[in-house]
Amino acid sequence: MGARIIGSGSFLPEKCVTNSDLEQIVNTSDEWIVRRTGIRTRHLLEDGQDPAVMGTAAAKQACEDARISAESIGLFIVATNFPDMICPGSSPFIASELGLDQTPFFDLKAGCSGFVYGMAVADGLIRAGLYQRILLVGSEALSRVTDWSDRKTCVLFGDGAGAVVLETGRTDEGVLGSAIFGDNDKALLLHMPAGGTRTPADDATLQQGGHFLKMEGAGVYRSAVPMMERATREALAAASLGLDDVDWLIPHQANIRIIDSLAVRLKVSKDKIITNLDRVANTSTASIPIAFDEARRDGRIKNGDVIVMTAFGAGVTYGAVVVRI
Ligand code: ACO
Repeated sequence: MGARIIGSGSFLPEKCVTNSDLEQIVNTSDEWIVRRTGIRTRHLLEDGQDPAVMGTAAAKQACEDARISAESIGLFIVATNFPDMICPGSSPFIASELGLDQTPFFDLKAGCSGFVYGMAVADGLIRAGLYQRILLVGSEALSRVTDWSDRKTCVLFGDGAGAVVLETGRTDEGVLGSAIFGDNDKALLLHMPAGGTRTPADDATLQQGGHFLKMEGAGVYRSAVPMMERATREALAAASLGLDDVDWLIPHQANIRIIDSLAVRLKVSKDKIITNLDRVANTSTASIPIAFDEARRDGRIKNGDVIVMTAFGAGVTYGAVVVRI
């Protein structure tokens, strides 16, 4: 028995920053950002706002949507790369806000593929019979690790959170197949050099901006499309389905050019692809659950639909899950 999705939720901070706003702080233009990325706006946390508010809001909405009480959750997982605190992470803070007094929790760090990895892990735990109900949140406060003087990265990211409640389902629903991969040769394509145990934060790392996310954009771009293509094909094979069976593809929302190239390689029509990066930009682990939740709520995704969620990210990690709603 695999894991089926019984509820979803999402949250975006109120503050909305346009490309024109960014023109005021770095040498960029709305035209460049839209043409190279497809992004027009992004939502950002206010200074001093706790990142955990995002995961908490998304999780509460998912539990309401599933019509369950949070206490009935057997396991709580937060996919995030930049938690509220490096130790103990984000999950204990969100668990506290949700009143999950007896529920085990952990953070899962797998780059922007964290939500897809989380789906695969949660499905495995449910299939093994270890848990009947798991709450999975993807939450990311990328604005807090963005160098706002670096035009190559600051235009790309946004903050947000998404959540799903997974429960033991029938064999013909929920997660039908998954495939996750890693390529450690590319570990430094996306990284934060300082602040970990290899290079603890000190005055020098602060001066050098070592606590900001560094990205080799072109390298990421080249890898992203073949990786998501492979993951999609292998997850579908694991589900014994073909691309013709897919109603919706929800790719990680990093760049519209990456998504368009993926569509061409998979020969999937653009009207089957769910995107929201024009409004929310790249929210890392939150990108797929936010897009999923929005499309469920506005009626595009219907019961019985087959969805492929696919992502790539720091590590590098990549993967896909096939889900029947
Ligand atoms: N505004 C104006 N000009 C810019 C900007 C900007 N915001 N950013 C870069 N440029 C300039 C560069 O300086 C360069 O100028 P130069 O030729 O004078 O040196 C020129 O534009 C071209 O730069 P490129 O980096 O070659 O631009 P490219 O077409 O590759 O687009 C981009 C850059 C958008 C980052 C692209 O490489 C990309 O999308 N990569 C993948 C990024 C990604 O997916 N990241 C997220 C994955 S992981 C995660 O989600 C956390």
